Amino acid sequence: MSKIILTGDRPTGRLHVGHYVGSLKRRVELQNSGEYDAIYIMIADAQALTDNADNPEKVRQNIIEVALDYLSCGLDPARSTLLIQSQIPELTELTFYYMNLVTVSRLQRNPTVKNEIQMRGFQASIPVGFFTYPISQAADITAFKATTVPVGEDQLPMLEQCKEIVHKFNSVYGETLVDPDVMLPSNAACLRLPGIDGKAKMSKSLGNCIYLSDTPEDVRKKVMSMFTDPGHLRVQDPGKVEGNPVFIYLDAFCTDDHFSRYLPEYSCLQEMKEHYMRGGLGDVKVKKFLNNVLQEELDPIRQRRKEFEKDIPGVYEILREGTEKAERVAAATLRDVKHAMKIDYFDDHALIAEQSRKYQ
Ligand code: TRP
Repeated sequence: MSKIILTGDRPTGRLHVGHYVGSLKRRVELQNSGEYDAIYIMIADAQALTDNADNPEKVRQNIIEVALDYLSCGLDPARSTLLIQSQIPELTELTFYYMNLVTVSRLQRNPTVKNEIQMRGFQASIPVGFFTYPISQAADITAFKATTVPVGEDQLPMLEQCKEIVHKFNSVYGETLVDPDVMLPSNAACLRLPGIDGKAKMSKSLGNCIYLSDTPEDVRKKVMSMFTDPGHLRVQDPGKVEGNPVFIYLDAFCTDDHFSRYLPEYSCLQEMKEHYMRGGLGDVKVKKFLNNVLQEELDPIRQRRKEFEKDIPGVYEILREGTEKAERVAAATLRDVKHAMKIDYFDDHALIAEQSRKYQ
């Protein structure tokens, strides 16, 4: 069986280092591994509109930001198909048929939906489109016959819901859809990178993100202002590394090589952590090191971004070509789905023959 990747992001803002360690970096590695027959990366604008219906301009403006972030991280349009969700009507059509296979109570139990309803204060007035976006996400995944979906941990309930739809569809209409596997980040620190303020999640609305497109100076300022262990007041005090964002970022980003380049007095992160826990290692020194590590990772991304920024029409062209290619694949799946559901009347010669016998 072919190995096919599909994943995506809502275009509601620029992508940040949490997206990067949680998924983007992995996507590029998977792309470069050459092990996959196809890779689809979706800008999920229709999904973004489910909770931004009154602000399509925000979504419209951020499509290019996300595309630039993708390209600058090393996603290569020759090897990965970049596409815009709303321009593929087959996805909406699949969603409509899958809706018959999901109950309202099942959607109400989806933990991600529950959480988002709370975060957005929707409680008493949940838009139907928002409520059903897990079904649309199942359409995204199945339209491309994805076998592997690399996402962050918060997307697990979406994948479960998708698998249920696949099983239900296949058991009602016959084996048609591919059952996808989720692929989570392997490093625990990458699963959920906290904000620079130590809050559980990096999020645009909390203003605690380091963006891939931040200037070196922005990144430096953000790192130097990071929350650390509030009990670590003087350099000689013992400090905590668990739950300390500076060390969580180091867990996510740094390698032993970084120490030999920037801080040769330690050979690895564990040694540095031990010193911090014993006392005698100041936050500023740790932050300066983290800044070096981050700048080294972000620098090539910024350089590539500058190149792509010079040709914005070219970036839209990449998206148009990717979307057209993706639509052909989604259209083939939709044909399979309609055939399995026996709603492909004009190609259903048995049906036409049967009806004509009835009326002879
Ligand atoms: N829900 C995902 C997010 O919020 C975006 C997304 C849309 C997606 N469709 C997808 C992710 C399909 C994986 C597969 O980030």
